Amino acid sequence: MNKHRKQQIFVNSNQTMNQHSKLPHVGDTIFSEMNAVASEVNAINLGQGFPDYQPDSELLDAVCQAIQRGPNQYAPMIGVAALRQAIAAKVLALQGHAYDAQQEITVTSGATEALSASILALVHPGDDVVLIDPAYDLYAPVVTLAGGKPVRVAMRPPDASRPGFRLDWEAIGNAIHEKTRLLILNFPHNPTGLTLSEADLDALEHIAAKKPFLILSDEAYEHIVFDGQAYFSPASRPMLAARCVLVSSFAKTLQITGWKIGYCCAPADISKEIRKVHQYLVFSVNTPLQQGIASFLGKTQAVQALAALYQRKRDRLVRGLSHTRLRPLPCAGTFFLLADASALGMDQEKRTAIRLAKEAGVATIPVSAFYADPDAPAANHQLLRFCFAKQDATLDAAIERLAKI
Ligand SMILES: Cc1ncc(COP(=O)(O)O)c(C=O)c1O
Repeated sequence: MNKHRKQQIFVNSNQTMNQHSKLPHVGDTIFSEMNAVASEVNAINLGQGFPDYQPDSELLDAVCQAIQRGPNQYAPMIGVAALRQAIAAKVLALQGHAYDAQQEITVTSGATEALSASILALVHPGDDVVLIDPAYDLYAPVVTLAGGKPVRVAMRPPDASRPGFRLDWEAIGNAIHEKTRLLILNFPHNPTGLTLSEADLDALEHIAAKKPFLILSDEAYEHIVFDGQAYFSPASRPMLAARCVLVSSFAKTLQITGWKIGYCCAPADISKEIRKVHQYLVFSVNTPLQQGIASFLGKTQAVQALAALYQRKRDRLVRGLSHTRLRPLPCAGTFFLLADASALGMDQEKRTAIRLAKEAGVATIPVSAFYADPDAPAANHQLLRFCFAKQDATLDAAIERLAKI
C-alpha cells in the first residue's frame, strides 16, 4: 500500500471515529491533567486520591503466601468464597444487613467495575439516572454508554449560614419520576467529605415509598468516618436494602489502590443481572489477591483503626491550613478535605489549582471538575480538594509551601 493511500485511510477513520464516538465529550480526566502539571513543576501531589505509603506488611505477606501456595488460576466468576464470606461478615457488622455470600455478593475489579457493571446491567436506553453534583467522574459517562440520561441534582454549596455542602432532598425527590431507573449515591462523599445521617435515610425512604427506582450506593470510603460518628448506608434500612446495590472497594480501606479489588452486594435477582455483565467484562478477579485479602481480614484490626488514622491526618492538614490563606471546610469522612481558596482572588477553580501547583508547588483538584460543566459559574465555588492520605512529612512539606503564598 503506498504512503498516500495509508494516510487517506487514517484520516477517514479519524473522521468516522469523531462522528461516531459514544462519548464525544470525554477527554483526559482532571486527575491526569493535574498529575501532569504536578510532575512538570515538581509539585507535592495532594491531588489524586492514593496513599504515598505501603499497605500493612501482614497483608503483603498474606498475598505473597497466597501466590506461593496457589491456586494461581482463574478465580470463581463471583469471587473467592472466603473473600465473599469476609465481606458478608464486614457488611453485617457495619450496617446490620445480612447478605448471602453465594447469591448476593460479587467480587469485582475495583469499585470501578462494580459501578460500571451495575449501571450497564440495570439501566435501559431512555432511562433517567439521577446523580448528585458534585459527582464522581465515572457515573455520567457509563450511564450514557448504557443509553441512559444523567439527570444531575446539585447539592447546596457552602454559604454564610453553613460552611459545608448539604443534600437537597426536596430537589432529589422532584427529579425522580416514573422513568427514573437509578439514583446514584456516594457517601462518605468524594469530594465533599459529607456522610449520610439517619435523617437523610428517613428522607430517602420517604421518596422511595412513592417511586420504584433502584439505588446504586458507592461506599468506597465506608470505613473512613470521623469524630465518633457512624456511617449509615441505605443498606442499613431493610426497605432501602431491597432495592440497593452497595458497591465498595478495598482500595481505600486497605490502602491498596493499585490492586483494584472491589465488590458489590445486592438482592439475588439484582446480583444475577450484574453478574451477567461482570462475567463478560472481566469474568473473574485476581485469585491470590482475593485469597490474601480474605485471610488478612480474618485476623486484623486494621480496618477498625482506619478512621482514627485518617482523622489524625485530617486534623494535621486542618491545623496546617490555618497558617495559610486557604480556609478548610468541615470534613466528616473520606480522605479528602476541601479548602476555600477565594483569598487567592481567581474566578475559575481550575485556574486556581494550576496556579497553586505552579507557584506554591502543591497540586490539588478543583471541585468544579465534579460537575457536568466545570466552567459554569454554578460549578465554581473557589474550592480545592486536598488528599490527606499522605505521610505526615508530605503533608507538613505541602503546608510549609502553602504558608508562603
Ligand atoms: C467515589 C469513588 N468511587 C469509586 C472509586 C473507584 O474505586 P476503585 O479504585 O476500587 O475502582 C473511587 C476511587 O477514587 C472513588 O473515589
